[in-house]
Amino acid sequence: MAIRQDTLWEQFLSPLVQSLLDKQQMMALRDRIDWHETIDRYQPSQFSYPEYYHSQNFHGIEGGYLTQTAAITYDPITQYVLPPYEPWVRQSLIDGVGTQPRQILDLGCGTGSMTVPLKQAFPGAVVTGLDLSPYMLAVAEDRASQAGVKIEWAHGTAELTQFEAGSFDLVTAALLFHETPPAIAQNILAESYRLLSAGGQLLILDGNQRTLRSLEWLNNVFEEPYIQAYAAGNLDAWLGKSGFDDVETKDVFWINQVTRGVKK
Ligand SMILES: C[S@@+](CC[C@H](N)C(=O)[O-])C[C@H]1O[C@@H](n2cnc3c(N)ncnc32)[C@H](O)[C@@H]1O
Repeated sequence: MAIRQDTLWEQFLSPLVQSLLDKQQMMALRDRIDWHETIDRYQPSQFSYPEYYHSQNFHGIEGGYLTQTAAITYDPITQYVLPPYEPWVRQSLIDGVGTQPRQILDLGCGTGSMTVPLKQAFPGAVVTGLDLSPYMLAVAEDRASQAGVKIEWAHGTAELTQFEAGSFDLVTAALLFHETPPAIAQNILAESYRLLSAGGQLLILDGNQRTLRSLEWLNNVFEEPYIQAYAAGNLDAWLGKSGFDDVETKDVFWINQVTRGVKK
């Protein structure tokens, strides 16, 4: 699939953001990772990526998340798209937990930008991050090692994991649901429900669906193939349909939301 050149992102914002990126830091990250070794270790041979995932050039990057470019540019760019301040936005998920979880699974963990703060907030918990991209996991591993925290990293699909039923008391997903078609989002919710023990909770940080509905132009700018379908949906209803109780969503600033549900 060719990269669209007609969006505001490609024409204007991408060059602007690129001028703000710390290129030396990105190159240092790229050079200290042994990409071949890490990718071979995470990605089973013959692994077949879901079509909805490998066919998309997420964020205008050819090859999407299955590239070194996506992995090394993800955090430098994300800081500009989580207003007013990325750590504050991420803290809102941690504040929503309200318990001391012992077994945490972070789905679609990417470069570990939510997984590492979770481990730092709950140091006694065993924390696992799962992602479909071995490139993102390579950066996640590096992030954890720089932060001096121990996290288990796993490669695979969030909608069908290899973990046993009831093995986590907290499942999280940050910025994952706007990246998946709604049918897959529903499967991820069903899998999260299966993975939680009784009393366990699911916390989701993502784009604010109400706000995004009125910002179609913004959705086009960032070349997010599924964000409009995500914005048209309702995470509260999706969680309810998957069996979650005590479902509630709180706005985080104007562009994000945290949704919580409990498995009773
Ligand atoms: C926008 S990034 C979010 C990364 C991180 N959670 C954060 O808070 O910044 C979305 C991540 O979800 C992963 N992803 C997308 N669909 C997935 C799926 N079905 N199963 C597992 N990971 C998936 C992508 O590879 C990517 O790393």
